[in-house]
Amino acid sequence: MTENHTLTVRDNRTGEEYELPITDGTVRASDFGKIGKTEDEPGLAVYDPGFTNTASTRSAVTYIDGDKGILEYRGYPIEQLAEKSTYLEVAYLLIHGELPTREQHDKWVHEITFHTFVHENLKSQLQGFRYDAHPMGMLLSSVGALSTFYPEARNISDPQVRHDQVVRLIAKMPTLGAWSFRHAQGKPYVYPDNELTYTENFLSMLFKMSEQKYNPDPRLAKALEVLFILHADHEQNCSTNAVRSVGSSQVDPYSAVSAGIAALYGPLHGGANEAVLKMLKRIKVPENIPAFIEGVKKGDEKLMGFGHRVYKNFDPRATIIKKAVDDVFEVTGVNPLLEIAQELERIALEDDYFVSRKLYPNVDFYSGLIYEALQFPPEMFTVLFAIPRTSGWLAQWIELVDDKEQKIARPKQIYTGDRQLTFPSAEERWSR
Ligand SMILES: CC(C)(COP(=O)(O)OP(=O)(O)OC[C@H]1O[C@@H](n2cnc3c(N)ncnc32)[C@H](O)[C@@H]1OP(=O)(O)O)[C@@H](O)C(=O)NCCC(=O)NCCS
Repeated sequence: MTENHTLTVRDNRTGEEYELPITDGTVRASDFGKIGKTEDEPGLAVYDPGFTNTASTRSAVTYIDGDKGILEYRGYPIEQLAEKSTYLEVAYLLIHGELPTREQHDKWVHEITFHTFVHENLKSQLQGFRYDAHPMGMLLSSVGALSTFYPEARNISDPQVRHDQVVRLIAKMPTLGAWSFRHAQGKPYVYPDNELTYTENFLSMLFKMSEQKYNPDPRLAKALEVLFILHADHEQNCSTNAVRSVGSSQVDPYSAVSAGIAALYGPLHGGANEAVLKMLKRIKVPENIPAFIEGVKKGDEKLMGFGHRVYKNFDPRATIIKKAVDDVFEVTGVNPLLEIAQELERIALEDDYFVSRKLYPNVDFYSGLIYEALQFPPEMFTVLFAIPRTSGWLAQWIELVDDKEQKIARPKQIYTGDRQLTFPSAEERWSR
């Protein structure tokens, strides 16, 4: 049987038929624009709030099959990367599309390590924030401010300039994130230690006090490494779409990434693990779980950390995180909320309400427990997401800049307001 890769559309308003090519399971929205188009009338458009069924790009960065629970970066399964790789190697893979040779790896790690310092004026900017400033607000504005320190960054078509900013951004995010954390505690900012690995150095900048040298526990550094790998990219989600949309104006990458941070700041995107923690604290003891589950089933509230728009069988990142939980608790001691989380998971996974709706634990179900065990306040959870996601945002941004098909992002609208009104003068309006 020969396959016909077209879609025949009959416009019943006119009786006219159109044949639209189907490529990679998609039809071009611009082809719909030819349907019913006359001199006076625009052609058909597609209406898709939230882009739930609209492909905005071709991408070779991250593959997800939500039904099968598959997540791959550049073709490599997340399970293998989490087990065998490091965050910086994964960042290289995302950005360059291939794993590095030894030489490329060493150069990359060296470059990132030696760009971790930020300009002292940026430190002054951070110090200007109120004592209780949210660290995500501080991060978002300081990343935006970086563009003023590197004005050459606007030459986005120059590969060397692009490379320099990619290195700077990946290198400086932990410094800015850690300083935002220290700020809230009224503690002095800790400068980077270039002898430590990426995650060790981050821990040092977060927790070092008066000791000459901070010696991070390797198990904590490894757990953080795994969490960073799991959060490095997730294809066209809200923040990545924000980076691409803002980047499509050809602005510098600092400004585009700060748009991504702004998107991640929102509770529907980066904030779910904090909600999980609040929920577990509210449940308090395992005896309260059955009543809580009944409330969820009645629709009173949601079981936070369960369900996903894309993953309908299991979230592969949740499985990996469960292992990291054990490693972290070995160092920090068990968080008493773990017992509640595990019991909640056990009961939910046996309950037809959750099974029939394909609701499984997602990445946020256990990550909050780890972050809390590491003594992070909930406001820091999203910062811990933004730091590793920077490599994914940048990989997607480079792809966008190199993609000849991309244009400045400019969705259509369906206008629902008034038309052609006559402007009444203030006198007329106010004398009524
Ligand atoms: C992630 C999420 C937004 C996905 O939403 P979605 O794909 O639009 O799924 P829907 O809202 O259509 O849910 C389908 C059904 O499952 C129910 N459902 C989804 N998530 C649920 C949850 N966490 N607890 C209880 N019921 C849930 C919905 O009420 C709906 O039930 P219905 O068919 O009887 O109306 C949603 O599962 C959710 O809010 N989860 C909790 C928050 C969370 O953990 N977010 C982090 C995501 S990484």
